[in-house]
Amino acid sequence: MSEKVISDYNGYDYKKEFWENVDREYEDQADRMAIRRLLPKRMEKFADIGGGYGRLANEYLKRARKVYIFDYSKTELAQAKEIYGDKIETKAGDIYKLPFKDNELDGLMMIRVTHHLKDMPKAIAELYRVLKPGGVAVIEVANKRTLPKMVRYVTFRSKVNPFSKEVANYKEISADGFYNYHPKYVEEIFNKTGFKRERVLSVSNFRSKTLKKVFKTNNLVKMEEAAQTALAPIRFAPSIYYKLRKPEK
Ligand SMILES: C[S@@+](CC[C@H](N)C(=O)[O-])C[C@H]1O[C@@H](n2cnc3c(N)ncnc32)[C@H](O)[C@@H]1O
Repeated sequence: MSEKVISDYNGYDYKKEFWENVDREYEDQADRMAIRRLLPKRMEKFADIGGGYGRLANEYLKRARKVYIFDYSKTELAQAKEIYGDKIETKAGDIYKLPFKDNELDGLMMIRVTHHLKDMPKAIAELYRVLKPGGVAVIEVANKRTLPKMVRYVTFRSKVNPFSKEVANYKEISADGFYNYHPKYVEEIFNKTGFKRERVLSVSNFRSKTLKKVFKTNNLVKMEEAAQTALAPIRFAPSIYYKLRKPEK
């Protein structure tokens, strides 16, 4: 696969339009809970890859001595700088050519980015390259194998087969394409790249407008706490979180 896609967030107020204008408190809490469970407590150099405006920065600022927020969008990075000032360093570029040296980072995370990535093997190889041996990557994957997608497929309301390992590309959601991955597909890439899988979490299990109407956010968050570990083996949630380690030599 050679053609690359960058989903361009320049000029888009992701913070306001995606997180503040819509009730996504539950999803935000679910992401934070997973990150707290998976990120190492102490790191020297850490990067939030596709970190946007640094929505999740409070989860890693206290854990790392040096923090980079990396993104393609200068709009997002300018917002991050405005919010966090000298606590972070921003770096702009493309995930497929990360501006870090080989073995430079002790830790990194990449959250809510895989749905923009057409060439997953190349992106994962880049993350591996910039990590030190022994370093940890926390990666969120947009899952194609969710229960609602299965129901839509078996009732002929969607042609996307959630059971097949091929990459799903929803052009109707975004002109750039919007990618969802089968867990087995990404797990094979992690293995081939050399990563060791240490932990998996099932995240945003109750991402549903109906459930949000029925339950208060704090109740959904309580249910999420148990579900993240209990449901991990079946990989049904819209977000699957992986804690991966680059082995020591
Ligand atoms: C949905 S936002 C997620 C931001 C943040 N990780 C969060 O969870 O709030 C996706 C981010 O990925 C960035 N992005 C997408 N494709 C990229 C690429 N090829 N290189 C660098 N950044 C990219 C976008 O600019 C955007 O800021």
